[in-house]
Amino acid sequence: MKITVIHGQNHKGSTWHAAEELLKNIDTEHECREFYLPRDLDHFCSGCLACLKSRDRCPFWPEKEPIDRALRESDLLIFTTPTYCMLPSAPLKAFMDLFFTNWMSHKPYAEMFSKRAVVISTAAGAGAKRATGPVAEMLLYWGVPKIWRYGLAVNACSWESMPEKKKAVIIKDMKKLGKKLSVGKIPHVGIKTRALFRLMKGMQKADWGASPDEKQYWQENGWLDGKKPWVQ
Ligand SMILES: Cc1cc2nc3c(=O)[nH]c(=O)nc-3n(C[C@H](O)[C@H](O)[C@H](O)COP(=O)(O)O)c2cc1C
Repeated sequence: MKITVIHGQNHKGSTWHAAEELLKNIDTEHECREFYLPRDLDHFCSGCLACLKSRDRCPFWPEKEPIDRALRESDLLIFTTPTYCMLPSAPLKAFMDLFFTNWMSHKPYAEMFSKRAVVISTAAGAGAKRATGPVAEMLLYWGVPKIWRYGLAVNACSWESMPEKKKAVIIKDMKKLGKKLSVGKIPHVGIKTRALFRLMKGMQKADWGASPDEKQYWQENGWLDGKKPWVQ
């Protein structure tokens, strides 16, 4: 199994440790690539829309390309973010903007429709589950059919100062989730993803897309003529 982890932070705090626990508990043979934000992608979207013409026209493509490739090649995508102001971190939000071409409303990748994903966040007090929401929603719009959200209040601002009871909760929860993820099956594409795809197809057919290049992309994939990006 191939795994890509996108860390919405450079440091190794509570959120990072939760992801580490998860990786430790995936007991099938796996290959893992990890990216740290902003270390590995230190830009904001400039709104030029060049990526809608072609992804490699983004001025930040040289940094984005290895991340993009890893995401496409992986079976499992893991996103981590500390809870900042009850939302994902700013570097992760910047990442979301920089990859907006992947949304079903633009040029989704067919590969995304067979992947699984996990979004992890920890908060000192409130908002961890909420912080996973925008990332999970992005993944839904990318076409990822199975997404787990894990948010936990850890009563601390670092892994070291976290009460042992909370560490035990993370260890137990990650063991359980790791067990589920160790069974490497392709997820079923559910009604929500199918409905969104149908909606976006209607939009492209009616020329309501953001650019004619998108319609051409949908056409080339055969998606305007009944083909689907998923197998089952
Ligand atoms: C900029 C900033 C904003 C934060 N906002 C919240 C918040 O909205 N709710 C909360 O409970 N904790 C908040 N915290 C605390 C962190 O969420 C908490 O320390 C969390 O465990 C960080 O995970 P980390 O150890 O992986 O960095 C904030 C911390 C920072 C630095």
